[in-house]
Amino acid sequence: MSDSVASPDLDQIVTAALSAVASAADLAALDAARVAALGKKGTISEAMKVLGTLAPEERKAAGAVINAARDQVVAALDARKIVLEGEALAAKLSAETIDLTLPAPAIAVGRLHPISQTIDEIIEIFGEMGFSLAEGPDIEDDFHNFTALNFPPGHPAREMHDTFYLNPNEAGERPVLRTHTSPVQIRTMMSAKPPIRVIIPGRTFRSDSDQTHTPMFHQVEGLVIDEATHMGHLKGCLIEFVKAFFELDQVPVRFRPSFFPFTEPSAEVDIGCSRKGGELKLGEGDDWLEILGCGMVHPNVIRNCGLDPQVYQGFAFGMGIERIAMLKYGIPDLRTFFDADLRWLGHYGFSAFDIPSLVTGTTGRVAR
Ligand code: DAH
Repeated sequence: MSDSVASPDLDQIVTAALSAVASAADLAALDAARVAALGKKGTISEAMKVLGTLAPEERKAAGAVINAARDQVVAALDARKIVLEGEALAAKLSAETIDLTLPAPAIAVGRLHPISQTIDEIIEIFGEMGFSLAEGPDIEDDFHNFTALNFPPGHPAREMHDTFYLNPNEAGERPVLRTHTSPVQIRTMMSAKPPIRVIIPGRTFRSDSDQTHTPMFHQVEGLVIDEATHMGHLKGCLIEFVKAFFELDQVPVRFRPSFFPFTEPSAEVDIGCSRKGGELKLGEGDDWLEILGCGMVHPNVIRNCGLDPQVYQGFAFGMGIERIAMLKYGIPDLRTFFDADLRWLGHYGFSAFDIPSLVTGTTGRVAR
């Protein structure tokens, strides 16, 4: 009889199921209510099983009643689910809120490599003096790396560089991995009109590997070309750089005659230091430490770039970035620069907030 299935029993079952749904406080409780009513052994499922025991003529009406009851519970479950999901999302969003006015976490992950930091410092110092930035390719041709820089073919000065040669190109010329940043002097003079004032950081390569040499290293080149540039400008510019870079008010600087094919006269620059007690101190003492090479650009180089050396002169300088970074930051071993050791980087690296500036000190180092 249909009456027997639409009995107070079924009403009670539905009422109990609906109240369990309504009082479910979270999605887990709601799922438990669903299983209790509609699961294999759930109250509604059990009531469905009664249908099988009924006579065929009763089954149709009783089935309709139970299905309606089932639909009612399913609809309540669906509605409650939407509400609870909304609440869960809102709770998650409010728990994940970040207060952007709070200070950054004490341990900032990720460090700038000392080479990157040192390049930024050099650019900052020369930028203040009115230099702009120039770059050139790592793979060079013989003309830019040697010939135009006044290293004639077969000149013994070429042997000063342990050059990496690549396979010959269609023209039979062997490209080189640039052995210094000086070829960018040529590229700059051939493409820009004087006055020129550029600073050129970059990678350089020489087939040399021991405690103080790595096959890849970094240099920074400077070039000034104008109509009335002289050795006094060169000295003033480099002395100012040394003081700013090493953050010393006074530092003894010595220009010692030297030789480079692309400059005449040429000099190497030493800074005063003390090595007493095995400790290196810059800016004091009676010892000297070589830090860079420089000179007045050779007239042949100016001519090779299509400029008239009777009209234009200038000066150039070049230095090794690893070397001056080691001196400034007390890094004892060159090879560790390229070990990619995160503990080393944690110790010698820089925070992204350490932005070099002449006002805060070129390291720009802030409390960490
Ligand atoms: N290119 C030279 C080297 O790698 C360094 C150098 C010396 C660059 C004197 C210059 C300079 O511009 O004037 O050894």
